[in-house]
Amino acid sequence: MQALDYDLVILGSGIAGMTAAIHASKSLSKSKSIAIISKLHIMRSHSIAAEGGISGVLYPGKNNDSYELHGYDTAKGSDYLADQDAVEMLVKNAPKEIRFFEHLGVPWSRNDSSDIVFRAFGGMSIKRTAFAADKTGFFMMRALYDTITQIENITKYHEHFITKILIKNNKFLGLFGIDLASGEPKLFTAKACIIATGGYSRVFNFTTTSHSATGDGTAIAYRAGIPLKDMEFIQFHPTALVPNGILITEAARGEGGYLKNSKGTRFMEHYAKSVMELAPRDIVSRAIVSEISKGRGIVQEGSMIKHVYLDLRHLGKDKLDERLPMIREITIKSLGIDPVEEQIPVKPAAHFTMGGIHTDINGNVFTGDGKGKILGLWAIGEAGCVSVHGSNRLGSNSLSECSVWGRIAGEAAAKLISKGGQANDNTAKELGEDAEEELNKIIDSGGSTSPYYIKAELQKTMEAHMYVFRNKKGMEEARSRIAGLQAIYSDIFIADKGRVFNTNLRDALEIKNLLDLAGVAVACAINRKESRGAHARVDYKKRDDRHWLKHTIAKQTAKGIEISYMPVVIRKWKPKPRKY
Ligand code: FUM
Repeated sequence: MQALDYDLVILGSGIAGMTAAIHASKSLSKSKSIAIISKLHIMRSHSIAAEGGISGVLYPGKNNDSYELHGYDTAKGSDYLADQDAVEMLVKNAPKEIRFFEHLGVPWSRNDSSDIVFRAFGGMSIKRTAFAADKTGFFMMRALYDTITQIENITKYHEHFITKILIKNNKFLGLFGIDLASGEPKLFTAKACIIATGGYSRVFNFTTTSHSATGDGTAIAYRAGIPLKDMEFIQFHPTALVPNGILITEAARGEGGYLKNSKGTRFMEHYAKSVMELAPRDIVSRAIVSEISKGRGIVQEGSMIKHVYLDLRHLGKDKLDERLPMIREITIKSLGIDPVEEQIPVKPAAHFTMGGIHTDINGNVFTGDGKGKILGLWAIGEAGCVSVHGSNRLGSNSLSECSVWGRIAGEAAAKLISKGGQANDNTAKELGEDAEEELNKIIDSGGSTSPYYIKAELQKTMEAHMYVFRNKKGMEEARSRIAGLQAIYSDIFIADKGRVFNTNLRDALEIKNLLDLAGVAVACAINRKESRGAHARVDYKKRDDRHWLKHTIAKQTAKGIEISYMPVVIRKWKPKPRKY
């Protein structure tokens, strides 16, 4: 096992992880070392798929916009489950981050006077989403990657899969994993670690996310006894392309697109009359699924999937080419549909996981008992749950979240490192050896079950019972099915016994992560007996603030998943009925 020692390790290399690396390096002396570790080539992190934009009030006062209004929209959009201190932190800091990316070279879309322009997004009462056409994530990632490449004390570990986080006495010690290219086991010790591995939407098959969105950092933290928060809230993006699930950005509606049912009606007038297609995602997704279940969907020939239409024809070719060029390219290339002339088949797909590793407002990870913080450990972006999105994230608030908490965690980790800290003793090495043994057992397992069978069954179960509308019976069925799949996971068969680029092994490890996280999401969802944001139950149709205005905390114990609750931070924006 190769042992590597750094001051800071960053696990995950999307917008949150790379932003953290840059801010940590700025705050540290050049003698301090930073490693950024990704299971992919760093530039293939899922952030690259972000399309529509990043929210922030760049010019407070202009068009009557304000931090206050952005905060109100976010709290209301969250169905009042967001912690409002975190919301205030987000809205005050987001503009600085948009400028930061401007300085890194992101080509924000501009008007004829060269001012950055903003587009409308769901649940935002005003246009406040900055964008780079419909490739915002790509441009932000490129700017970050170019920057970290020029920073000498950041070492990039592409294609390294971490299987275990090493913690002792509530102190972070290191990470254990394998170099996928060589199969070599590696131990990374460090004084601090920032987890930024993204979400776990791949518990579903119909998702806008990459195959890599398997929540690896969240899963290894959970297995290390770290509590997770609000895992039942999984966002379904209303407009995923049918049949492949590719994201058709909300910006398409922000630019004026319509949603239509089989009768050609703009059905959103029955669900959110004042904002129509620009309601928050939970409301639009429910509306689409309701239209389909009332027989007003369209059945796609071939796939037989029921969907509605996104109509962009009235926007015209010039606007589509300027603002949504990639959407046009995607629909032409994958379906032969030119949105200039034809409607786009869409339906909701898993897109974002609001839940994640339980952190405080600075991204510092809580200990298992929830009373203290783990020394030297932060979790940010979709992997963490600082609770800025509550039960439903507003579109374009995630790129702001990644940037704001990337900076906060990077600077906080640097501060800890600058204070010094104890030299690592032998504990990390010993824990690393245990982790290596566990990994070898999986590689050598002589079972008979294909991990791909488990994945397919898991995704089928989640699609059937944890999609936009849920009920007790279905979720209980999901719970017992997942428990069954967890039991047969111990009998898996890794066909490839080699070490070099063993994608078979990597897939099996990802599937274990998905299984564990899906199990937690289902358990938390069964417990929450109300409908709030992305958790819509047909057997408890209403939001119930009296009993359920609280965060779910879930922890792994020897007896199974232990669930508890904690209060939501409510400040300026008192919960009230959500009307759009
Ligand atoms: O629709 C989109 O472009 C997605 C944006 C987001 O999830 O923030």
